[in-house]
Amino acid sequence: MESSQSPQATILIVEDEEGPRESLKMVLSPHFNLYSVDNAEVALNILKEQEIDLVTLDLKLPGKQGMDLLQKIRDEGRDTEVVIITGYGTLESAVNAIQHGIAAYITKPFNIPDLLGVIHKALDRRRQVDTLRGSLEAFSSLWVPAGEPASLTEKLRTLLGAKNPELAQHAQRVHYYTSLLLEHMELPAKSKEGIQLGALLHDIGQLGLQGRLALGNSEHTTEEKELLACHPVIGERMLQSMTFPEETRDVIRSHHERFDGTGFPNQLQGEAIPLAARVVGIANTFDNLVSGGVDTMPVTVPEAREYIRQEAGKALDPALADLFAKIVG
Ligand SMILES: [Fe+2]
Repeated sequence: MESSQSPQATILIVEDEEGPRESLKMVLSPHFNLYSVDNAEVALNILKEQEIDLVTLDLKLPGKQGMDLLQKIRDEGRDTEVVIITGYGTLESAVNAIQHGIAAYITKPFNIPDLLGVIHKALDRRRQVDTLRGSLEAFSSLWVPAGEPASLTEKLRTLLGAKNPELAQHAQRVHYYTSLLLEHMELPAKSKEGIQLGALLHDIGQLGLQGRLALGNSEHTTEEKELLACHPVIGERMLQSMTFPEETRDVIRSHHERFDGTGFPNQLQGEAIPLAARVVGIANTFDNLVSGGVDTMPVTVPEAREYIRQEAGKALDPALADLFAKIVG
């Protein structure tokens, strides 16, 4: 596989056995800058001193080193991607690792195209998260009051990126579709900015549910669904003490309201749903369709457009749904 995406990406191989370590080096060296170490302590030193994009980690390092290292990487707020490569994967360690936001879990013996595929995908994801960071940075003047310590921004960015990259990618795409729609709407620039920020943060309440839900696109139980339905209100509470544009708050609280009044959390109907939330509601629906949302498989863009048209006046604001269908058509 060609490493067309980023030949300069730097990978740290953490593997105590010489054989697998050397074969990983051989496979990865044509594509990436490499560091390779045989224990967690040296790995941590390298992580402190170098810019590492991705770590391949053998969970079965002596003692509990593998899991501990993973924990330390996350505790220190690093968003380095981690790919677990191990010969002794157990379900428990896989689940643990996934909760730590690892990119992938591969068991030995691995095949080379699979391994490279997983690594490229993980690096792609990291780049998307970086772009999202950039967007949040650009908007930070709107949501961090003057004099507020920068750590607040840092905290939110870390939360979005490191703890739940899927959410960060979804936010990024919803932001993009929202911007498309806004380009065709006549609104004051300030309102548009507030709505765009809302698009980036709309699901931030899901971070409050972290650890209580299975991540990814696995099917949710009824209980999990009920918990998920609280995320708009949780999101609103998370940001309560901060200064945000009204539009941003509207989006976070009301992006799951439906035009016909059967949405949540307040069963608002029609234009009682803030405009900002109706706009992002369409972008969110579209992304869940084309990227595959919770419990749903992705559909094609024409199918998604058709669905948006059908939902005009039901889930979605009819005029905005019509406009959006035309834009993506
Ligand atoms: Fe949501």
